[in-house]
Amino acid sequence: MYDILLHAHSGLRWLVLATLIIAIVNSFGKTRGGVTYSKKDKQKALFALIFTHLQFVIGLVMYFMSPKVVFEAASMKSDVLRFFLVEHVGLMLVALIFITVSYSKAKKIAMDGKKFKTIMIGYLIGLILILAAIPWPFRDLGGSWF
Ligand code: HEM
Repeated sequence: MYDILLHAHSGLRWLVLATLIIAIVNSFGKTRGGVTYSKKDKQKALFALIFTHLQFVIGLVMYFMSPKVVFEAASMKSDVLRFFLVEHVGLMLVALIFITVSYSKAKKIAMDGKKFKTIMIGYLIGLILILAAIPWPFRDLGGSWF
């Protein structure tokens, strides 16, 4: 069961990254207004939101199952254990908040240019935080590419 979740969580990262990048790139050049924030634009932002939330939920379940999450003060002294106990989940939570808040803010804004700008900035901050919090294989945290 845990193995399935781990594989899903690992692979889903690429969908999270791809959909975030698509939503961000889609907003480029449209932030000054003059371009309608269409249903398709909203869908692009929504896909990224859904995949990020899904990834978060899977991660949350894994948090209470993973051998790398040890609820002890001594975990703070180990790079790997500290990463999975606080850094990974903490940064991902902040990223999720940026993405969610900018999506719902964009919905309420009247001006199209401002909608694109809100998505672009909020999602870009979220993307940077997610990239920084992923246990990439080169970081020696026991993570893999897929
Ligand atoms: C957008 C959000 C997230 C992304 C992109 C992400 C990505 C990843 C990746 C790529 C791995 C390494 C998987 C592997 O190497 O096979 C991982 C591991 C892990 N993630 Fe996340 N994660 C996210 C959110 C979360 C959250 C919110 C939690 C906990 C509440 C969490 C808990 C974990 C745990 C416990 C592991 C270690 C799994 C293990 O090796 O036992 N993740 N995550």
